[in-house]
Amino acid sequence: MAKKKTSLFECQHCGYQLSKWMGKCPDCGGWDSFIELNQEQQEVIKKTSKVRTTSSKATPITEVKQDDIIRFSTYNEEFDLVLGGGVVPGSLILIGGSPGVGKSTLLLKVAGSIAASGKKVLYVSGEESMGQIKLRANRLDANHKNLFLLPEIKLEEIQDELLRENYEVVIIDSIQTMYSANLTSSPGSVTQVREITFELMRKAKETNISIFIIGHITKEGSIAGPRVLEHMVDTVLYFEGEASKELRMLRAFKNRFGSTSEIGIFEMTNEGLISAKDIASKFFDKSKAQAGSALTVAMEGTRALILEVQALVSESNFPNPKRSSTGFDLSRLNMLLALLEKKLELPLNDYDVFINISGGIKIKESSADLAVIAAIISSFRDRPISKESVFIGEVSLTGEIKEVFSMDLRLKEAQAQGVKKAIIAKKPNIKLKLQVYDVDEVQKMIELF
Ligand SMILES: Nc1ncnc2c1ncn2[C@@H]1O[C@H](COP(=O)(O)OP(=O)(O)OP(=O)(O)O)[C@@H](O)[C@H]1O
Ligand SMILES: [Mg+2]
Repeated sequence: MAKKKTSLFECQHCGYQLSKWMGKCPDCGGWDSFIELNQEQQEVIKKTSKVRTTSSKATPITEVKQDDIIRFSTYNEEFDLVLGGGVVPGSLILIGGSPGVGKSTLLLKVAGSIAASGKKVLYVSGEESMGQIKLRANRLDANHKNLFLLPEIKLEEIQDELLRENYEVVIIDSIQTMYSANLTSSPGSVTQVREITFELMRKAKETNISIFIIGHITKEGSIAGPRVLEHMVDTVLYFEGEASKELRMLRAFKNRFGSTSEIGIFEMTNEGLISAKDIASKFFDKSKAQAGSALTVAMEGTRALILEVQALVSESNFPNPKRSSTGFDLSRLNMLLALLEKKLELPLNDYDVFINISGGIKIKESSADLAVIAAIISSFRDRPISKESVFIGEVSLTGEIKEVFSMDLRLKEAQAQGVKKAIIAKKPNIKLKLQVYDVDEVQKMIELF
């Protein structure tokens, strides 16, 4: 008896799957976005959820031979740091970023450097002509005979090219422009993006080619296409930064071969993106002290960075005062404001409060609490804080100041940047030239301003 066919419909905007057709997607709300997947496409979905790499017979872990990972460099210090020490052969790396942030610039430069080291590199572009890429390569000094360009959007053509030559690195710019002739849906749709990524993954694992895939991100900030893309690839990196400013940051969101806590910091220059030099001074302004600004030292991976917390406290014209925060958690800000009202009796309920962290950094740890409080009080009282002081500490709901991790590293960085005074929870054991003030309660910190 013939096997019964099951129908499967998939939303081409978000990847939501149903057993029957619907006019409106219950997940993303898109209209007329469902298409029926044929049996082959359904097989691909099954395969993408489990990739078999070894025989199905189980082996005791003590007898399993460890894979020796020999990474190769991208010849870009910051990129290597984020990848966990370099590129792993046969890995699939997805790089997402908003339009114009510099994805093509970064990867063309990396492609040129890897090519110059003797590896054959293929740069596939579905967005730009060869002439345009050549122009950029001249500007970036990325010309090398081992770097090959292929302006192509058809997967089958790319596969043929990969059979013709022995490439070790391939760059796909971008996944949303690629399409497979075997599929009816349009380029950039969920089905296309998933199947092409699946084919590329298979190629990477079979032939040990490292593949970088560039992906556009949606307004919500995730890589356009289904979440399954993030599950399939080995590494997901996000390239962030404001196109108007020259600083760019590369973060790992997922990494099968390294930590996700490191960030790469780049500067956009005429010669393209270079590893930011003298990073420390990029995130704070040493010039004149102004009311509403306080310095802290945050950890970004293994790197300590001095950041400036800016606060603006202004009288509110609304019954519900405004609270807004860029780079610092809003609910944490609300908690700190409630604490200031209660412990220091500041009438902040009649004031709008805005917080900003300099340089586009998002602080994810609680060590900046103390600096946020200092900046708010400074703005409220219109009293500037010296640029030679840093505030490092977590503040609890009771107003206690708590110690934070990596304090020695933070203080050493502060000292290296010319800071003279540190206000923290507990004196450290190391000897330092800068003066350390230990305070255990928010009330007591005010006296140190
Ligand atoms: N001649 C130039 N000199 C300096 N900077 C330039 C020059 N041309 C372009 N740029 C910078 O490079 C950025 C564009 O970089 P790139 O094309 O790599 O971005 P992208 O992320 O690939 O964009 P898209 O999403 O459109 O593909 C521009 O925003 C601009 O700041
Ligand atoms: Mg581009």
